[in-house]
Amino acid sequence: MDRVSQTTRTAAADATWVPRATLGSADYASPEVLAEERERIWFGDWICVGRSEEVAEPGRYIVRDIAGESIFVTRNQEGRLRAFYNVCSHRGTRFLDEPVEGDRVRRAFKCPYHAWSFDLDGRLIGTPNVHEDECFERDRHPLYDIAVDEYAGFLFVDLTRDEPRPLLDALTDGAETITAFERYRLDELRIGVRLSYEVEANWKIVVENYNECLHCPTIHPELVELVPLFRFGEVWDEESRDDGNRMADGATSFSRSGSSRLPRFPGLDPDDEHMYYGTFQFPNLMLNLHPDSAMYYILYPRGPAHTTVVSEYLFRPETIADPAFDPSAVVELWDLISKQDWAVCQRAQTGVSSRAFTRGVYPRQDRFLFWFNEQWRARMGRPQLG
Ligand code: FES
Ligand SMILES: [Fe+2]
Repeated sequence: MDRVSQTTRTAAADATWVPRATLGSADYASPEVLAEERERIWFGDWICVGRSEEVAEPGRYIVRDIAGESIFVTRNQEGRLRAFYNVCSHRGTRFLDEPVEGDRVRRAFKCPYHAWSFDLDGRLIGTPNVHEDECFERDRHPLYDIAVDEYAGFLFVDLTRDEPRPLLDALTDGAETITAFERYRLDELRIGVRLSYEVEANWKIVVENYNECLHCPTIHPELVELVPLFRFGEVWDEESRDDGNRMADGATSFSRSGSSRLPRFPGLDPDDEHMYYGTFQFPNLMLNLHPDSAMYYILYPRGPAHTTVVSEYLFRPETIADPAFDPSAVVELWDLISKQDWAVCQRAQTGVSSRAFTRGVYPRQDRFLFWFNEQWRARMGRPQLG
């Protein structure tokens, strides 16, 4: 993606901004819109579902719910990623549960109903009491497979029925992209902390909240101490590259004190040591980069007014392995910010469902939300508002 032209377009749009309408009440609250989003967005392009390290070796697997579809991702004997619907080819049973500690690696997957089993490539290999000589051809009943790929250690699946487009095309198709940050060597980082939140709000309200900072002075007093620009309701400093934000003088970590006991990432540019970058990758990944750690949110819609937000913190593997590993300074601030955000998202959800509310309004500082809505409208087959 051409970041320069993006910034130029952004700056030009800023100068002539006039207030625009938000999405409508039903877009945030109705089951019908969510049903349409499932086909057009959640099952229509690449969706982030976690990290490659979670399926590091053959037979290690994760189960995910994507807008009501249960799927799982694993690695076959050759080490290649594979993903399947969590649906037995016999009579449709959902056969895998979320793996529990100590049972995350399988040589084969067995359905708990009639004990049919499938290998790591989804081939049907066991059908107790049903024999090949009954004209039953196992080859004809594999698991339903799904496209899966990875970028920078992030796992993506695509439930599109036809041939999906290349992952990289999807990643570089929006206003922002995680591909701008190769110098952070994200593929080498590992999960050190995992938090999960249940937020009673539509997933788009969570995205919109992430992409504006008009709320920062009131909702995040601790955050605006660390990132002074946020005090003015802006989300990025257009003078800096990749829409980064300079942290307060002397700050080198995303923590309340501006410091931490974590070593800095190697190989960053000198300027990065004082910068915070936040990037939204449509539709469900929000990546935050700091000089010593990264944190991302992955969103999973559970209903029109319910989103599960997984928040994971990445560090260098050698940092995690160090007996003195202490991520608490970064986690404490982000966890505080997250809870502050979810509380206002829930409040917003309550209001958009009111019979009084039809649409709200975006002032200039909310312009990124409008662009997110334009992207959403494009995916939903609705006209652009321009
Ligand atoms: S439904 Fe899975 S084995 Fe019968
Ligand atoms: Fe916020």
